[in-house]
Amino acid sequence: MSKEKADIGLIGLAVMGQNLILNMNDHHFVVACFNRTVSKVDRFLENEAKGTHILGAHSIEELVEMLKKPRRVMLLVQAGKAVDEFIETLIPLLEKGDIIIDGGNSLYRDSMRRADYLQSKNLLFIGTGVSGGEEGARNGPSLMPGGHEEAWPHIKDIFQSISAKADNEPCCDWVCMCPSGSGHFVKMVHNGIEYGDMQLICEIYQIMKDILGMSETEIADTFTTWNKGTLESYLIEITANVLRFKEKDVFILDTIRDAAGQKGTGKWTGIASLEYGVPVTLIGESVFARCLSSLIDERARASKVLKAPNVKKFDGDRKQFIEYLGQALYASKIISYAQGFMLMREAAKQYNWKLNYGSIALMWRGGCIIRSVFLGNIKAAYDNNASLENLLLDNFFQDAINKCQEGWRKVVATAVVYGIPTPCLSTALSFFDGYRSKRLPANLIQALRDYFGAHTYELLDSPGTFHHTNWTGHGGEVSASTYNN
Ligand SMILES: *[C@@H]1O[C@H](CO)[C@@H](O)[C@H](O)[C@H]1NC(C)=O
Ligand SMILES: *[C@@H]1O[C@H](CO)[C@@H](O)[C@H](O)[C@H]1NC(C)=O
Ligand SMILES: *[C@@H]1O[C@H](CO)[C@@H](O)[C@H](O)[C@H]1NC(C)=O
Repeated sequence: MSKEKADIGLIGLAVMGQNLILNMNDHHFVVACFNRTVSKVDRFLENEAKGTHILGAHSIEELVEMLKKPRRVMLLVQAGKAVDEFIETLIPLLEKGDIIIDGGNSLYRDSMRRADYLQSKNLLFIGTGVSGGEEGARNGPSLMPGGHEEAWPHIKDIFQSISAKADNEPCCDWVCMCPSGSGHFVKMVHNGIEYGDMQLICEIYQIMKDILGMSETEIADTFTTWNKGTLESYLIEITANVLRFKEKDVFILDTIRDAAGQKGTGKWTGIASLEYGVPVTLIGESVFARCLSSLIDERARASKVLKAPNVKKFDGDRKQFIEYLGQALYASKIISYAQGFMLMREAAKQYNWKLNYGSIALMWRGGCIIRSVFLGNIKAAYDNNASLENLLLDNFFQDAINKCQEGWRKVVATAVVYGIPTPCLSTALSFFDGYRSKRLPANLIQALRDYFGAHTYELLDSPGTFHHTNWTGHGGEVSASTYNN
């Protein structure tokens, strides 16, 4: 066996792993591969990898021996225990300066822990988001690597060569000059946004079906038209394809059970937003919408006793209303991305990450599931002003939201009247109305907290000074904040 020939080793030959390997091979990198079920390696070499320069290893030791130094080993195995097990196996076989790359959907906190651990072993760690599904992995994924910065120069060429390109730039850049976790954090937010985008599309679809009575074909045609404008994106494109898909003359979409599955990254985004106190309401609602959908039997029982509102058939201007739907979708999407970037900003503050928001938008611009023209506008917003406080404050997005506002409100109001659930369209609008309010009713919350719990409040003209009022005439002198909270 010839030694030290491979540019990178890859462990895990499920479909994502295989496709990434073939992609790397297309770009003239030599890849050595390994799978715990060794027969998978032989089968891969005899089939998909036949006639390529791909090398197969039958043990981890053999894999490591095949690698040029510093050794680069990428894991594409199930997130969780398997990643830790492979790391443990690799540690004694690697040398100072070698690099372990985790390309699975790992939780960012695990990546932070692994980075610290590997640093203590003199090894380098990169946690990278990989998005784009099987197709992306094969032809150009969006890659979001973060971790030990010294490792980046050693993987940059491979990663940027195999990634998708948008406007001639690779959809892969170093996520941040920071210790770790950021790559998987950014990927987590990407997935959360994907949940939100999909739920928004579903809400629009239901309104079209149940309020406007549009057929699959009409709905598909509308999405196809939208895909030529500001809403142009992969998810809009494939929604039209899904709507049109027939098997034995039946639209199969109609026959699919309406209980959504989930693997956890949307939930993690929701948990992170609660943890850091950022109102990422749209992603949160999109996760809950999946939870509600999965109560499918209970909903069937409830549907028999809980009545829908009594409304007459829609007799408004359909063409106009479809335009409003496009505006509602676009405006809500802006809110969702603004919230996602708010979350990254807050996490960056907590962990001292120096995130480059423009390059994150570019990484998502192509290759991944949420790829869209719109991400080019987000990149432009951060290129214009790298310290932009919020996307909604950028001129382009201010104008866009203003133009959509009327249609957005009409859509949400109509859905409410017709009893069609729009958790994401509505929460986006509520967020917008809250965010643009100089004054919110939280003064009353503060008063109530002080009334029942002596939690104290601040006055508008003297923030930082805390007051307690003797609301009832039998209140004590001691405010809660004096002893706790
Ligand atoms: C081995 O390959 C199978 C699929 O062929 C995959 O499901 C599994 O995750 C791989 N496992 C490892 C650890 O290599
Ligand atoms: C950039 O954004 C920050 C924060 O939103 C703002 O204070 C600043 O004025 C903006 N700069 C420019 C040049 O618009
Ligand atoms: C609260 O008000 C009542 C009635 O005016 C008064 O008797 C009591 O002393 C007050 N308590 C304090 C702590 O000032």
